[in-house]
Amino acid sequence: MHKYLVIFRDIHKEFSVPELLSVYSLVIRRQKDIVKPKLQEDFFAKTIRSASCDLETDTKKIRGVFYFANFQSDQEAFLVGSRCVLVRAIIRLWSHARSHELCLKQLQSLGKDVFKELLLSEKESFRCRLFSYGRKYSQSETVNRINFYSSILQQFPGKVNLQNFKHEIWIVEDSFPKAGHTNEPSRIDIPNHVYAGLLIAEGCVKQVQKYTLKKRNFIGTTSMDAELAFIMANFALADNLKLILDPFVGTASILISSAAFGAETLGSDLSFTVLKGKNKEENIVSNFRQYKLQQPLGIVRCDILHNPWRHESIMSSFTSFKCHGWLDAIVADLPYGVRESSREFVGEKLHSRFVLNHIPKTSRVGLDNLVSSLFDFATSSLVGGGRLVFWLPCTDEFSERDKTEICHPSFISIAACRQILTCRFHRVLFVFERKAWEDDKLYDSDMSGAFLHQGPFYKDFAAKLFREEKRTEDALWRKGQWHRIE
Ligand SMILES: C[S@@+](CC[C@H](N)C(=O)[O-])C[C@H]1O[C@@H](n2cnc3c(N)ncnc32)[C@H](O)[C@@H]1O
Repeated sequence: MHKYLVIFRDIHKEFSVPELLSVYSLVIRRQKDIVKPKLQEDFFAKTIRSASCDLETDTKKIRGVFYFANFQSDQEAFLVGSRCVLVRAIIRLWSHARSHELCLKQLQSLGKDVFKELLLSEKESFRCRLFSYGRKYSQSETVNRINFYSSILQQFPGKVNLQNFKHEIWIVEDSFPKAGHTNEPSRIDIPNHVYAGLLIAEGCVKQVQKYTLKKRNFIGTTSMDAELAFIMANFALADNLKLILDPFVGTASILISSAAFGAETLGSDLSFTVLKGKNKEENIVSNFRQYKLQQPLGIVRCDILHNPWRHESIMSSFTSFKCHGWLDAIVADLPYGVRESSREFVGEKLHSRFVLNHIPKTSRVGLDNLVSSLFDFATSSLVGGGRLVFWLPCTDEFSERDKTEICHPSFISIAACRQILTCRFHRVLFVFERKAWEDDKLYDSDMSGAFLHQGPFYKDFAAKLFREEKRTEDALWRKGQWHRIE
């Protein structure tokens, strides 16, 4: 076990640690020689901790970007770090202290052998980089800070090469302004903490940028942002030989990220318009073609409430064969009723002559009905250990308690991370893992809805949001602070 410093990006902070844990879980499950992956996952989850909890700094209350974690090897840290969207870097930690002077002292005490072990031959080039969080340095200041460590850097047998280097040594400075003395001149030069180590992995944000919606062939009003789609794929443990379905596929932006990680994909949606696309060059197929990704195995027009997918309880009544799930993950962005309404097919009695080309009518349905159908479908179709990853809308009143409102006997909750869209409109990404089918004593598809709370936070969400906005607008109008544009 070695100690590493994980530096997260300064964005979607609630998602950072859960994403890292999910990717760790994926990496562990890939290694067939590991006897008890669950034990290892639990141990890793317990050991990861915010660096600011260890340090007596005022930044304790701020959710920091620095975390300590233990990995088995550099290889493991690399596999995990390089797949996370929200990881900036993973550093193999050599020393950390309250000041550069103390940090240098610690490095000197490590002795020559440590560095020789890292940079084995004289042929291996390296460079040193100063990474400062919360402060910007000029070129000359950066050089000065790096030169401060020259007595250590000279001990490396390799040559310095700023362009083509094999190793990168990071001096990391946490200079995030402390509460109370943000601009105090006497304190501005004193960092909160300093870390030094070897760069092992950088996150995958650069690779994800190529999937940006700005350059996507076919998008809609509710297409999922590329970074969030990749985070969802990480939560879904997307990988080679996995099958992932999006039952609210829209423009397939979530499936694109899963396919980019090598998974086979399937999609379905109720809307004929979105599935057809704009024309032959702008549709779901052209999106996959744009990134040279494996096309989905199928895109089906269907309603999740009356879906045609294989259902375990029906299958087992016909045959003695039990497949115990056929999907590795379900990813979904449900229609919140704000930009996209939740709908279902309306039952119509038709003469058999008209059935083939008939496009059924749809009517509005509550979001809570879609959520229970989604759980019902996931219970019968996911393999044991398969993931269900979906978004639900909420308002700013959403609390930690609300996170536990959604539960189901066949699933364990993995994460619930909130994203703030506007001051009033938020949404939460829920991640569930299906329990092993053998542990599923309670399973009864008709009961799934019963475990979802009555009157949950997302029920009638659009009406709640608009009513509330109208009330605020009216109050401001009465006070004369609001000018309605007619
Ligand atoms: C928020 S959008 C999904 C957007 C999609 N993730 C994308 O990136 O384009 C929700 C989708 O759910 C579809 N939908 C609404 N009700 C449905 C239902 N009952 N069954 C299946 N799809 C439904 C809508 O047509 C819409 O395309």
